[in-house]
Amino acid sequence: MEQRRPSPAELARKPSPTDPRLDLLAGSIDLHHGRRIRFVHPRDPAALLYEDDVAADQAYPPYWAELWPSGIELAHAVSEHDWTGTVAVELGCGLGLPSVAAALAGARVLATDRSADALVFAAVNAEQNGVAIETARCSWEDPAELVARGPFQLVLASDVLYGQRNVDEMRALLPRLVVPGGQVWITDPDRPLTEEFLASVDWASVQTSATRLPKVWLHRLTRVA
Ligand SMILES: C[S@@+](CC[C@H](N)C(=O)[O-])C[C@H]1O[C@@H](n2cnc3c(N)ncnc32)[C@H](O)[C@@H]1O
Repeated sequence: MEQRRPSPAELARKPSPTDPRLDLLAGSIDLHHGRRIRFVHPRDPAALLYEDDVAADQAYPPYWAELWPSGIELAHAVSEHDWTGTVAVELGCGLGLPSVAAALAGARVLATDRSADALVFAAVNAEQNGVAIETARCSWEDPAELVARGPFQLVLASDVLYGQRNVDEMRALLPRLVVPGGQVWITDPDRPLTEEFLASVDWASVQTSATRLPKVWLHRLTRVA
């Protein structure tokens, strides 16, 4: 007999299942134009550290499972505009809120992350809001397949400029992903390396604006033609 998959809402109501990826909380954020995103996220991201692969956990902690202010602010900023027909990609999508906001605003979105679990959450969160997004597993250090799927008109990334490794990978990757005249929107909570990253961008003009939160900034990079 075919088994029905439980809905995210049903999963969220279940008390403490053994797998911490299924111990969920439900939330929602407001967007522009009276819109709203409903989403689910793991209740306890720290519980997603696996004792059998400490090295991997240290190299890539399960940050995808957290609700980061930069992700909320990027989703909000994106939702101000009509992106009908725009081909967009999100890097390090985590729970996927900016991807969902872009899809709600008409974009065709590819949400990417190195974590397969993140992609499941991003897709479920899109589905909950009545939109479809594509997902692809991709690491910034090995981006050939992603680059082959581009270039994109809009690249979204929230809170990805932490650590020298990330900054170096973003510096190499971003110019390969965006069409001439296309945009990269990055939200960032004043991470220590962000200024250095922005100062090194010579392939785009950079415009920085405030978000609703005092310490989160939106950097819009427009690729020079
Ligand atoms: C701080 S979290 C931000 C998540 C989401 N953008 C947000 O703001 O809520 C960083 C995200 O980047 C992803 N990430 C980190 N290193 C990565 C890499 N080398 N390649 C692809 N994704 C990576 C993580 O899995 C995580 O989802």
